[in-house]
Amino acid sequence: MTNGRPKQLRALGLLPPRALTLARKLGLVDLREMVEHGGGDRPAYAYCVYHAALLARWLGYEAISVIEFGVAGGNGLVALERLAAEISSATAVEIQVYGFDTGHGLPAPRDYRDLPYHWKQGFFEMDKHQLEQRLDRARLVLGDIEQTAGTFFSAHRPAPIGAVMHDFDLYSSTVAGLSMFDVDERYRLPRVYCYFDDIIGSEVELYNDFTGERLAIEEFNSAHDDKKLSKAYHLITRYPMRTWYHQIYVLHDFSHSRYNDFVSGDDQQLPLGPTTGWAARAAHALGAWTRSVGPGT
Ligand SMILES: C[S@@+](CC[C@H](N)C(=O)[O-])C[C@H]1O[C@@H](n2cnc3c(N)ncnc32)[C@H](O)[C@@H]1O
Repeated sequence: MTNGRPKQLRALGLLPPRALTLARKLGLVDLREMVEHGGGDRPAYAYCVYHAALLARWLGYEAISVIEFGVAGGNGLVALERLAAEISSATAVEIQVYGFDTGHGLPAPRDYRDLPYHWKQGFFEMDKHQLEQRLDRARLVLGDIEQTAGTFFSAHRPAPIGAVMHDFDLYSSTVAGLSMFDVDERYRLPRVYCYFDDIIGSEVELYNDFTGERLAIEEFNSAHDDKKLSKAYHLITRYPMRTWYHQIYVLHDFSHSRYNDFVSGDDQQLPLGPTTGWAARAAHALGAWTRSVGPGT
């Protein structure tokens, strides 16, 4: 396995996600093909964890942590744990899984930024006993994130964070979760894959840049010169479009000591070719295709 997008048939991307999931269960596609084309019941989670593990491997990290902010009943955390196990065995990177939650549902919205027209205190209560029986390797970090964000690192000594699934719903909770990117760099990869669950929605939520998770992202970026959450532009040009492509951001930690380590293909050359006629058009098309699939597998 190496860096870059796989060179498998692009036609796989045209399969509906359910067909891809079935094909994976039947052993017709491998993990990488399923992740790249959005199969499985949590395609955004799979994408973030898989690419965090690949980045860790390219940089020589032996272990990473992946986090779900907001666990509720636990469906997401159970899925994250299953994905972590599968991706860990495919990439040989150990993956620790943490789920953060109050344990008793949403705190009360504080002001308009927490969207009280959509969220209410107590939504999404957890049955801790039942969830713990379903979990294997994942660890629950229970309590308000405003407290646990400050104690998590000393209490758990986690492997560097590679991916975070942000699903706290509220602006105030998301701000507190993002503060975990302000600790010592040994606790995160130089680039961290993030999924934000509540930034698209419908005519009811009307998510926007001035409230909710989107505002938390905007404020994080304004407050940090050396760290920025950027949209994953490489995803939003893919065809066919999936909504979750717009929900993936990457934390770029410019002053991280490993940020500039080279992880791309070593054999990049653009020799001068023909400039006119069919040969030039063919060379141009081949070059565009090669760049779109990334460096070799
Ligand atoms: C929508 S639910 C999460 C659903 C889950 N990610 C899934 O996909 O199955 C949001 C959760 O965030 C948790 N939450 C919100 N604000 C929090 C805070 N300040 N501290 C800890 N947990 C919080 C709530 O308890 C709630 O269970």
